[in-house]
Amino acid sequence: MHQVRIPEALGSVLLQPATHDDLPVILRLLERCDLPIDDVPPIVEDFIAARSGDAVIGTVALESFASVGLLRSLAVDADSRKHGLGRSLCEYVLQEARRRAIGSVYLLTTDAVGYFAKLGFHEVDRALAPDAIRETQQFRELCPDSATLMCRHIRQP
Ligand SMILES: CC(C)(COP(=O)(O)OP(=O)(O)OC[C@H]1O[C@@H](n2cnc3c(N)ncnc32)[C@H](O)[C@@H]1OP(=O)(O)O)[C@@H](O)C(=O)NCCC(=O)NCCS
Repeated sequence: MHQVRIPEALGSVLLQPATHDDLPVILRLLERCDLPIDDVPPIVEDFIAARSGDAVIGTVALESFASVGLLRSLAVDADSRKHGLGRSLCEYVLQEARRRAIGSVYLLTTDAVGYFAKLGFHEVDRALAPDAIRETQQFRELCPDSATLMCRHIRQP
């Protein structure tokens, strides 16, 4: 379990690896946020669930490929936004990337470039994407060609 600050306004929220039982609610949350869901079921183990009681109010995933990772599917339920939960979920993923000895975390986004820039990600030319990222379904099919590729390097201890 990583040491991530949970926003006080949200009470006792827990960030935990998702289980197969979480899949339906995660899919519904991503759909409500207009994020791709076609490739989620086979990789549900890559997802983190933000739990408030029995409810899942946020999610994010880290797909990992040796030394690079793909942060994807960051979503917070509309009623729980603007309290820092999105930031907490990203910090969890970055700590998990460090644990897995991932050197660079990439993501694709259509309209949250400014959000991720505040979290330390910088824009990268799509032509420079590592092969592992280029081969993901997110890169090849699910995100439009206009989506911006961003990267954050992970300092290893
Ligand atoms: C993006 C998202 C995860 C942020 O969740 P959150 O818990 O509200 O995030 P935080 O509390 O850490 O940050 C909130 C701040 O980010 C800003 N923000 C939210 N979405 C943003 C966006 N697309 N671009 C720029 N800033 C954004 C908010 O306006 C707020 O700003 P403020 O602190 O000045 O009020 C949430 O808005 C969401 O689920 N959006 C739909 C799905 C999505 O776009 N996911 C990201 C692409 S994968």
